[in-house]
Amino acid sequence: MTDGNGKVALAFSGGLDTTVCVSLLKEEYGYDEVVGVTVDVGQPDYEFAEAEETAEALGVEQHVVDAREEFADLCMQAVKANADYQGYPLGTALARPVIAKAILSVAEEEGCDAVAHGCTGKGNDQLRFEAVWRDSDLSVIAPVRELGLTREWENEYAAEKGLPVEGGDGGRYSIDTNLWSRSIEGSELEDPGTIPADDIYKWTDNPSGKDAELVELEFEEGVPVALDGEALGKVELIERLNERAGAHGVGRTDMMEDRMLGLKVRENYEHPAATVLLTAHEALEGLVLTQEERSFKQQVDHEWSQKAYEGLVDAPLTGALEAFMEATNERCTGTVTVKLEGGHCRPVSRESDYAVYSESAASFDEEDVAGGITQEDATGVAKYHGFQSRLANRILADAKKNAPVTDGGADDASGEADDAEE
Ligand code: ARG
Repeated sequence: MTDGNGKVALAFSGGLDTTVCVSLLKEEYGYDEVVGVTVDVGQPDYEFAEAEETAEALGVEQHVVDAREEFADLCMQAVKANADYQGYPLGTALARPVIAKAILSVAEEEGCDAVAHGCTGKGNDQLRFEAVWRDSDLSVIAPVRELGLTREWENEYAAEKGLPVEGGDGGRYSIDTNLWSRSIEGSELEDPGTIPADDIYKWTDNPSGKDAELVELEFEEGVPVALDGEALGKVELIERLNERAGAHGVGRTDMMEDRMLGLKVRENYEHPAATVLLTAHEALEGLVLTQEERSFKQQVDHEWSQKAYEGLVDAPLTGALEAFMEATNERCTGTVTVKLEGGHCRPVSRESDYAVYSESAASFDEEDVAGGITQEDATGVAKYHGFQSRLANRILADAKKNAPVTDGGADDASGEADDAEE
């Protein structure tokens, strides 16, 4: 092991991995001092209390950095991108670069020689942290990965050393919570065939038997700014929506996820606010964007989501995609009402000054389409529509009809079945 004898900044949550890491960084890696950095991206209060207590018990200097605003800004980029990865709205993925940057700042201010995380060598988070950290001159240490630790070994080690590891959320699952999503992994949930017990959910209620509720969201240039007519900051708006929509059981995802390293894993998530905001934003885009913008934007959104999943929100590609997103979201100003009902959220109304919509044009009750165009003008279009398909099908049908009856060795299938008009 290295003989650092210096100072290391550790991503610190007070959970099992990071608690064990504090001890290992001193004992196995020879660091004199460990600085624990806990970054606030909207975890529940008890997680901070737990981290503080654990840090104290371990005799570790702890820094708490409030990065909620920065994180909420990134969540809003995700809204503009209608972002999801295989159905997961990316909470953990979006938070990691924010956390990594905050830790790096503390490490630099504190004159640390190294930065460390408690991620395993199997997940995505190691890659997301290090994508940020390896841009600095500090050493990067990953004890769990480098020493090949298992949760079982960590529990035994903690017991042996008398480390304080009474996990929050029951300690049974590996939980990652922030403003945008709560993920639940591990234990029996690792078996994709296991039906999760209801108590894995903390943000979403069982949706049965609750009356439907309407929520009105106002957007400005793609960003939600008001809830039911009340202007709110991003963090508060997300927090309130998590409660409102969570009460209807909105935003549960039980899925198979393909991690960056190629491992397929079973994941459970809760993300009520994300589901509502993504649904509402997409509904508004449906009103204000042209058909070809909507179509192309699906590709842009997909690529942005992929980069976000990889933790590469600062990649040049991400920035270029965002330029397109900005251009289209410029017109995403308006109001959408969604209905929360029985675990679902669906748009029920949308309004915008930028609507690419003419009621008289689309109406069944008006004769004129627009600007003097009449229904009759569509006749020519209707005649042409499907021309190539009809032609191709006829050629194929004729070719089959004229094909010699096979005796097993016919080789001139390309007859001149070409009696169709040009
Ligand atoms: N699989 C998700 C991701 O890579 C979430 C991981 C959350 N971690 C956890 N310990 N529950 O973004």
